[in-house]
Amino acid sequence: MSDTIPFTIDGVAVEGRPGQTILQAADDAGIYIPRLCAHKELHPFGSCRVCTVKVNGRPQSACTMPCAKGMVVENNTPELLEHRRGLVEMLFVEGNHYCMFCEKSGNCELQALAYRLGIMAPRYPFQFPDRNVDASHPDVLIDRNRCILCARCVRASHDLDGKNVFQFVGRGSKKRIWINAEAKLKDTNLDVTDKAVEICPVGAILKKRQGYAVPVGQRLYDHQPIGSDIEAKRAAAAQA
Ligand code: FES
Repeated sequence: MSDTIPFTIDGVAVEGRPGQTILQAADDAGIYIPRLCAHKELHPFGSCRVCTVKVNGRPQSACTMPCAKGMVVENNTPELLEHRRGLVEMLFVEGNHYCMFCEKSGNCELQALAYRLGIMAPRYPFQFPDRNVDASHPDVLIDRNRCILCARCVRASHDLDGKNVFQFVGRGSKKRIWINAEAKLKDTNLDVTDKAVEICPVGAILKKRQGYAVPVGQRLYDHQPIGSDIEAKRAAAAQA
């Protein structure tokens, strides 16, 4: 029995492995599918829907959908790119994202994705929600204004750090990232070295005293769009 699962993404032949999701197989093949809540060290969560692709004509989240033999996946189409633009624009207006002042600027996956998708300004009205900052911890702060509710910190704290520092409270537009204590971040067992701290895709969880350490022009996404590292694999394979 073959241990590969052949299928196509935008007409490109891809060999998935048993147990792989479409996103994982695409990464291995050097095809970038945009994502925000997915992370290679975490179990799929399927919340942001930025990774939506079409599988045999039906929308599916690539980070949760397993590979299947012969499936036809569409990824980089005008329709899907527009869908992703809409989702990213909604994330911008639902929070308070002031990129020009944010410590994460240049290293932020939300900002980088907006650039990659060609978003100049959201088409939706800004909601300016009332959210707070918890800077009580000696080494880490949480700024809920920038949280996109991806749950990476929730999953990383539980699955990678063996703790349970973060969780969600509230529903709908009132949903917020919270901590495992009724009180403040300083009352938790969060450590600055925890994976939950570094895995935040935006500037919601930040290490103190490290802001703006990397000059503009040298930050992660200053030179290359998000996803370039994945696409470089395919380009290298084509030259080999
Ligand atoms: Fe797949 Fe968020 S990356 S739903």
